[in-house]
Amino acid sequence: MTARTSRPETVSFDNTDPELITHLYERINDVQSRCPVAWSDASTGFWMLTKYEDVVEASRDWETYTVTEGIMIPPTGASMPVIPAELDPPRHSKLRKLVLPNFTEKALEPWVPGIRRIIADAFEPLLPAGKADIVVDVARPVPVLAICLILGIDTDWRRIRRLAEEFLAATGKPELARAKAAELEAFLEEEIEARRGEPVKDLLGAYVNAEIDGELIPERELLGLVQLLVVAGHETTVNGMGMLLYRLVSEPGLRDRVLADRSLVDKVIDETLRLHPPVWNMGRTVREQTTLRGSTLCPGEKVMLVYGGANRDPDKFEHPGEFDIDRPGITQHLTFGSGRHRCIGEALARLELRLTLNYVLDTIPDVELDGEPSFSGGTNQFGPRAMPVRFASVT
Ligand code: HEM
Repeated sequence: MTARTSRPETVSFDNTDPELITHLYERINDVQSRCPVAWSDASTGFWMLTKYEDVVEASRDWETYTVTEGIMIPPTGASMPVIPAELDPPRHSKLRKLVLPNFTEKALEPWVPGIRRIIADAFEPLLPAGKADIVVDVARPVPVLAICLILGIDTDWRRIRRLAEEFLAATGKPELARAKAAELEAFLEEEIEARRGEPVKDLLGAYVNAEIDGELIPERELLGLVQLLVVAGHETTVNGMGMLLYRLVSEPGLRDRVLADRSLVDKVIDETLRLHPPVWNMGRTVREQTTLRGSTLCPGEKVMLVYGGANRDPDKFEHPGEFDIDRPGITQHLTFGSGRHRCIGEALARLELRLTLNYVLDTIPDVELDGEPSFSGGTNQFGPRAMPVRFASVT
């Protein structure tokens, strides 16, 4: 890749720098205000699109910005594409059509009691003590248990959680990343194999036996699909849930407003997701040369869609750095992406967040911080790692 250090668009921004998350939004805002289409020499080199309009347009224009060269910057160590996120049409549309109907709000209705149970089970042992780490004890286990419940994976969820977390954490460290990807793939292969040729008993079994254009889904594609559902289905939601609970305990006056009017719960969720997108960027690769705000993007160059910038673009959201549940267009953030790759799990993530927030308001409405929370992030993720809280003991 040609170094572009002589270019006027060059900024210093390295998403593999572990220090970045301590001042992530300061850095993104700085890049956005100085150079909305910026070039970074870090890792493989990449363009950064930080304006709302540009991120929407690049997400829509799959012919110019392809996903088939990978959507992580730098790449993960996965030996195969994640499906359907790294497919272009027409194959993408066929796989999306298979999966999306299982994850709509309506399709998820039968799972509501099960997910409520998972949330209550996570909280119940903590209630008598009146103390917990709400991220470690609740936000971490709930999403992985929910996706396993829906897929029908009832083996040790701690193992799958560890495998998925290590896989994501290894991004940018090629050898480790390959090893972690192989471990996760081996586990999922076992789950798939156990369902081959068997009567369909669960959603994973339905995918194993599903046909597209009269043919079973090829092994590698199936593995890529299940891998994405498992990985995308939990770390993201852990971060979203953690930030939501953080806002509840730290935003002055918020708790009283929501306790008095539960119809505000969804607004609190959206405003938290806008300000703190759990996935703050995704990648694309330029397929056809294009010009954007005067910069020439050449074939083969990586492009980072910076949702964390788009969601705080002052041309789209007034006072973008403020938490304001009364803002107009509160749902228009790009936290779940945009266009044909928009998140398939959006309704599931929203459901988990809504049920958890309502559980907290019903059961431990006096919850407050009991120490400093800590935050962490990867090359494209951000969220709390630990958050000690206290509340009146419930027996
Ligand atoms: C708060 C939680 C979540 C966030 C912030 C989130 C974010 C995203 C984003 C930004 C994309 C778009 C990627 C792109 O355009 O390249 C995406 C795609 C996707 N997400 Fe999520 N996600 C969340 C939860 C989930 C859950 C629970 C599932 C499990 C079902 C899931 C499954 C997927 C899948 C399968 C795709 C690929 C869609 C496609 O390519 O057509 N996500 N997600």
